[in-house]
Order: sequence, then C-alpha cells, then structure tokens
Amino acid sequence: MAEAMFGGSAEEISLEEVGLRCEVDGEIATITLDRPEKRNAQTFATWSALAHIGDGLPQQVRVVVIRGEGPSFSAGIDLRMFTPEGVPGQGAFASSATLDEASFAERVALAQRGFLWLRRPDIVSVAAVHGHAIGAGFQLALACDLRVLADDAKLCMKEPALGLVPDLTGTKPLVDLVGLSRAIEICLTARVVGAREAARIGLAELVVAPDELTQAVRDLTDALLATDRDAATATKRLLQGASGRTLAEQSAAEAREQAKRVKALFG
Ligand code: ACO
Repeated sequence: MAEAMFGGSAEEISLEEVGLRCEVDGEIATITLDRPEKRNAQTFATWSALAHIGDGLPQQVRVVVIRGEGPSFSAGIDLRMFTPEGVPGQGAFASSATLDEASFAERVALAQRGFLWLRRPDIVSVAAVHGHAIGAGFQLALACDLRVLADDAKLCMKEPALGLVPDLTGTKPLVDLVGLSRAIEICLTARVVGAREAARIGLAELVVAPDELTQAVRDLTDALLATDRDAATATKRLLQGASGRTLAEQSAAEAREQAKRVKALFG
C-alpha cells in the first residue's frame, strides 16, 4: 500500500510524500498522519490518499486507527491552500473560486470521500487524538466512530473564523454527538474544546494521559476484536440506522438482522 500513488490535480505523488503512513497488522490498520514538522497539515492529496486507503483496505481489517505523529494530531488544512500559489500540484482555493457549481461540488465530494469510508459498517474507526485537532483535523476525528483523547487534546472548528464552513463531513457527527446548540456554539465561536470537556459533552469515549494513549487505543482495539465480526458489522449497521427510524421500524430492522445471524449460526 505504501507504493500506491495518489493524484494531486496535476501530478502523481506517493503516500510518503502526502505525509501519510498505513500499516496493516492482522485485523488492525493504523493510519498515521506523518508530517509532524507541519503539524500534520492536510491537503487535497491527503484526502485522496485516505480515500485510496479505504478503497484498498485488506478484507481482514476490522479496526482502523487514525493517529498523528509529533506534537499535534492535525493542524487542519494546509494554510498554503489559502495563498494564490496554493500547494504545488494541487492548486489553491483561489483557483476553485472560478469553478461552476457542479465542478465545485465534485471537488468537495472527492475530498469528502477520504472521510466517509471511515463509517463503513464492516470496520470500526478510532481516532487517537493528542495535541491540536483543528479544522480538517477535528473533522477527521469526527469522521471516526470513536475518539480516544490524550488529556492535552485541543479540538477547534476553525473554519468559520477563516470565512469558510466545515465541509469535510464533520457537521453531522458534531450535531449528533453534542446537539445543535452546543455545535453552533463550538463552531461559531471557533473556540478550543479541551479533552475533559470533550469527554463530558460526548466528543470522546475516553481521555487518558498522553503517554497512555497508545495503550488505551490498543486495549480498546482488543476489546472490539473480541466480538464476532459479522455480528459486529450487523450491529453497527443497526445502530447507524436507529436515529433515522421509528421504534417500530428499528424493531423490524433488528428482527431482519437477527434472522440473518441465526441463519448464519444455526442454519
Ligand atoms: N498549514 C501549514 N503549515 C502549518 C499549519 C497548517 N495548518 N499548521 C502549522 N504549520 C506549520 C507552521 O507554519 C510551522 O512551519 P515552519 O516551522 O516552517 O514555520 C510548523 O508547522 C510548526 O507550527 P507552529 O505554529 O510553530 O507549531 P505550534 O506547535 O507552536 O502550534 C498550532 C501548533 C497551534 C497547530 C499552530 O501551528 C496553528 O495554529 N496552525 C494553524 C491552524 C489552522 O488555522 N488551521 C486551519 C484550520 S481550518 C481547516 O482546516 C479547513
């Protein structure tokens, strides 16, 4: 997977050049944002590479961990995107201002593909967050099913302060997790949410000391891998659908999923 090439807009670049690593160890894939000297700032190539990793994820993988190298999880979008020159080979926001509506939507959808696969029912995604998770960094953590935070984690939805909206799939999970009022307050003030508050308002499953983050994620991963794979997939699918269904519809969905499980186990 490390050899794969990812398109910017004009040239092809490798996973390493994008600043990502992906290591697969049995049922666990660990994706590391690996540009610590730039605080793991993200570009279009990062999102394209993330989508590519999702597309090529080996079938045995059940848990995907996303972590950051260095002092921050991710400082968000690479600020060079806001300069007229942009990121070499990947353009700039200035150039996308001239795109028509359909082309712009296509460009955003391409970026969002890097985030959306993390919700697939056949995997559980875990963000291991330490230090800053700003803008696209916060949204990447929100794209995951679960968040384990080091107690130095600082989450910030900076986009509105920069004149933008969060568009990397983060707004729905944020509202789902903290409620509309708190989401409005967090985004429209662009303030920093610390780890303890994050846990209190539902943005983190667990907060640990920074030097315990790796072990805490490993323990969680072990526990996730201890359940039956097909039952876990079916259960995640059920849980994901629950908020969009009535109690009667959800009950019927439970029965349908259970029929498949019982057939698989005893049929
Ligand atoms: N894009 C590009 N480079 C960045 C980014 C970024 N988002 N964030 C940090 N860097 C670079 C710095 O320019 C610096 O590079 P240099 O050593 O070549 O000068 C290096 O990373 C280290 O940055 P420092 O600011 O010195 O690191 P520090 O640990 O003190 O602070 C922090 C980290 C708080 C994350 C700070 O760098 C910061 O505020 N970055 C910008 C955050 C931001 O506004 N992101 C955009 C959010 S909006 C969105 O994502 C859509």
